[in-house]
Amino acid sequence: MKDRILQMLRETEGFLSGQEICKRLSVSRTAVWKGISQLREEGYRIEAVNNKGYRLLETPDVMYEQELKSILHTEWFGSRILYFDSIDSTNNELKRQAEKQVCHGMVAVAEEQTAGRGRRGHAWVSPPGTGIWISFLLTPDISPDKASMLTLVAAMAVSKAIHEVTGLKAEIKWPNDIVVNKKKVCGMLTELSAEMTRVNYVVIGIGINANTTEFSDDIKDMATSLYLESGKHVNRATVIEAMGRYFEQYYDEFIKAGDLSPLAKEYNELLVNAGRQVRVIAQDGEKQYRAVGINAEGELIVEDADGTESTIRSGEVSVRGLYGYV
Ligand code: BTN
Repeated sequence: MKDRILQMLRETEGFLSGQEICKRLSVSRTAVWKGISQLREEGYRIEAVNNKGYRLLETPDVMYEQELKSILHTEWFGSRILYFDSIDSTNNELKRQAEKQVCHGMVAVAEEQTAGRGRRGHAWVSPPGTGIWISFLLTPDISPDKASMLTLVAAMAVSKAIHEVTGLKAEIKWPNDIVVNKKKVCGMLTELSAEMTRVNYVVIGIGINANTTEFSDDIKDMATSLYLESGKHVNRATVIEAMGRYFEQYYDEFIKAGDLSPLAKEYNELLVNAGRQVRVIAQDGEKQYRAVGINAEGELIVEDADGTESTIRSGEVSVRGLYGYV
């Protein structure tokens, strides 16, 4: 009931009369008042004015299922939403869910992760109240060797969402870290379940430092948050809404084309490495190149000192700036 009232308030510009809510939901005035009180207890600021009705002034910074459902404008992203106050890892949770049922667009989001995972076996510190710890499950009809391209699609969606919501210039450090002012605000962990020729499902896990106010000494030189860079507290559900919307749009283009060809130009405009010197760190050593941009496969095109071009694939190497992270 309160969810439907919230939805109606969101869809109304200005005031919505109590009578109108009663009519649309076929309930009593007391029931409406109860719903409004519950929403206020949850932190929604709702103004009530005699003869005018109710108006939603402010939403709390929560990522509950009901909040995300009422804010999302997507067709399949968030087809199911699982919210947790605390969980080991949202990626783990979606993989557990997939053992029971694979549902394209299913989202798991948590206030806190107790065993958040980063790439290359690193831990991902995920305290409550500050970050967006979210994963979503996809069932793309693509061959397994193309699955890694999906994380570049996700990087574009996150970059665009951050820019839309905060106004910050959020660039992509190839293949899928998001950086603001050369420091990392977001990392992604993509996991694949596949057979030889077909994908069962892909889980994309995204960690965004949204309202983090400080970082530990070991990462503070290369990590930052949306709050630290913009000086403003960020409503996390708003970022998720924009990310879901962009992701659906880019994902559809990617699936239609079968590669990143329709997206590469826009990706390269967001690429912080473009035109810069990078160190490519592989198992057998380190080499210096100038980064050019990605190709339709999502590989990074690099140029050596003689101007000879080659491509590098994600997963095999890590790319750093000459003097630091970017
Ligand atoms: C990295 O840059 O190392 C990747 C970090 C990925 C973190 C996210 S938070 C949500 C999801 N659940 C996890 O355990 N990891 C990803």
